[in-house]
Amino acid sequence: MTKFVDSAIVQKMCEVTRQSYERYWDERNGGNVSVRVLDEEVAGYEDNTAVIRSFELGFDASAIAGYYYLTTGTGRYFRNVFNQPTLDLGLVRISEDGRSADLLWGFEDGGKPTSEFPSHLMSHIERLKVNPDQRVVFHCHPTNVIALTFTQELDERHLSRLLWKMQAESLVVFPEGVGVIPYMTPGTTEIGAATAAKMGEYQAVIWPHHGLFASGVSLDETYGLVEVIEKAAMIFSQVSAQGGVIKQDITDHQLQELADAFGVTPHPGFLEV
Ligand code: 13P
Ligand code: ZN
Repeated sequence: MTKFVDSAIVQKMCEVTRQSYERYWDERNGGNVSVRVLDEEVAGYEDNTAVIRSFELGFDASAIAGYYYLTTGTGRYFRNVFNQPTLDLGLVRISEDGRSADLLWGFEDGGKPTSEFPSHLMSHIERLKVNPDQRVVFHCHPTNVIALTFTQELDERHLSRLLWKMQAESLVVFPEGVGVIPYMTPGTTEIGAATAAKMGEYQAVIWPHHGLFASGVSLDETYGLVEVIEKAAMIFSQVSAQGGVIKQDITDHQLQELADAFGVTPHPGFLEV
């Protein structure tokens, strides 16, 4: 019998959680990932057809009723997923009334979805409106992004410009910039709603003093988005460590030329050109 644990999507989840842990983005149980699994990816596995148990969502997810999501569990360590995916990961299907998530596979020792599941599912719903190929929400605690939220104004234009100017790659990868919400209590539907409200406009949203929420069409692409944002923040940390005096940088005009060359549209009003 072909087991779901051997599927490409579970294997990829094992890979990215391990890589994210190795980058120090996921200390202890920090971070969580959810991936929309396509019907054809679920089909053919005999160990994921019956509902094992259900989890109340606490909000209306009827917009994604019937959709499958593979998610990390609450309290689980990214460090361990690789070695025990059937304990730390779960495959759920959103119920027809959108009020619960039905477990079909995984969480074998009694686990349940990440405490940030409201933020994940609400973000999936918003991103699906922008891009029907939307599949991934990735939350982690990248050190330099978090550090920025102590020293910089929590302003989307300011943070986006700062990150764009640290390397030419940034604008090409996230031309819409980065969103930011105020500091809020994690694990709540309130932070989920605030995050999702930003996801219509941004693929990545900074949680001050906590981490980053990123979305995308694949695990590779979404992980790549986190990498590029964190790399830009890391360069800023190094610039600051070298005294912080910027003698020259990528000008707004050069950023516009970069956007033109790569066929991307910078967030309106963020560049002075
Ligand atoms: P979970 O263990 O519930 O996924 O929470 C980790 C986290 O990063 C909270 O923001
Ligand atoms: Zn977190």
